[in-house]
Amino acid sequence: MTLADTGAGQRPAGPRTAHYSKGLSGERRAAPDKSISHRAVIFSGLAEGISRVDGLLESDDVLATARAVSALGAEITRDDDGVWSIRGAPWRTPDRPLDLGNSGTGVRLLMGAAARFDLEAVFTGDESLSSRPMARVLDPLALMGVRSDAVRTGRLPVTLHGRSDLKAIDYTPPVASAQVKSAILLAGLGAEGETIVREPRLTRAHTETMGPLYGAQFHVETDGGGAIIRVAGGAALKAHDLSIPGDPSSAAFLVAAALITPDSDITIKGVMTNPARSGLYQTLVEMGAEITLTDAGSRAGESLVDIRAKSSALRGVVIPPERAPSMIDEYPILSVIAANAEGRTEMRGLAELRAKESDRLAASAALLDANGVRLQLGEDDLTVEGCGEGGVPGGGLVATRHDHRLAMSGLVMGLAAREPVQVDDVAMIATSYPGFFDDMAALGAAIR
Ligand code: S3P
Repeated sequence: MTLADTGAGQRPAGPRTAHYSKGLSGERRAAPDKSISHRAVIFSGLAEGISRVDGLLESDDVLATARAVSALGAEITRDDDGVWSIRGAPWRTPDRPLDLGNSGTGVRLLMGAAARFDLEAVFTGDESLSSRPMARVLDPLALMGVRSDAVRTGRLPVTLHGRSDLKAIDYTPPVASAQVKSAILLAGLGAEGETIVREPRLTRAHTETMGPLYGAQFHVETDGGGAIIRVAGGAALKAHDLSIPGDPSSAAFLVAAALITPDSDITIKGVMTNPARSGLYQTLVEMGAEITLTDAGSRAGESLVDIRAKSSALRGVVIPPERAPSMIDEYPILSVIAANAEGRTEMRGLAELRAKESDRLAASAALLDANGVRLQLGEDDLTVEGCGEGGVPGGGLVATRHDHRLAMSGLVMGLAAREPVQVDDVAMIATSYPGFFDDMAALGAAIR
């Protein structure tokens, strides 16, 4: 099957309503990880030879990255068993603009990866992606010698002029962002000499973990609460076969649903347990969640666990700002969990949430407010007054603002609320978790 035929299937769209549900039960395999899937496509597309990728996340975001990598010169096919074959090639000027849809990871990593070839590429995206900041990637790339034109300063569409004689840089990103770090490291693979990224706070290290599988040389040193990462320029990448671990960020929605609905007991199998991705699970344990993790081997250099989650009496906690990078995608669903806890939950250090698929800080607050939950919203923090035993009133309409995680959070909230919760449009869920509705239905959740 060619890439053009993939992913065009039916994707649920339009409004959906979640109704009170109890007794969620059963076992599901975790959806494949989005971050690892993007990187598998990009590294394979750069490497010499054919890489086989098993269990790739076939979500709109990852498919957009795959289409872009194909337009840049790689050959990508999928066999009937769902294994993807990617033959890498030196990247060339694509014959059309690269539309990354809703995907910040896709566009930022690809700008970095494309920067080291003599090519010109136009990057575009949907309304949400076109409003997100790109200077955080274009600025360091400019220091390496890459010229780019953005019609609106620091926003898509961007025309990037790559070059094969990039300068290595020693750079400290002003924001804690794995996307920014990864873009620089991917560009650094083609620079003369050693490129250094100094991150003041640890962010997910999937690029550093996966690069060496393809023959890239990364050297990582921890440094206080952060890390110094060095990449040697000029490495020739070689094909590598891998299978994708389960996504802890997608699993979080199922786990949350079990925790907040009565008489529930579910197991999600094969979830990646990387410390830079596990902040939510650490927080849930502090809140008194009944979750058990059982070792389930490893994939693509990452450890896996099966997660069993049961209905739990949760209490509010304070979540420190240092934990934010390890749960940066999980605050919308944590807000929903906090609304179902007894007492107050304070989340701090959340400014980065304002630069996600939507302003997730404001949108999470609006989601709670529309459903009768009391909260205080600051510039950089959110405090949620848990509804405890009385339960969340519900009955609200959630505006998803082109944001998949808000859509899923709103629906999970409705499963435990006194009145149904409606979400205005579920189309974006397919960007990260196309199996969400099947998984929820199989566990017994009433979403219609
Ligand atoms: C990602 C990094 C995070 C995260 C995103 C995936 C990645 O973004 O929000 O969903 O794969 O590198 P930032 O690094 O910009 O915080």
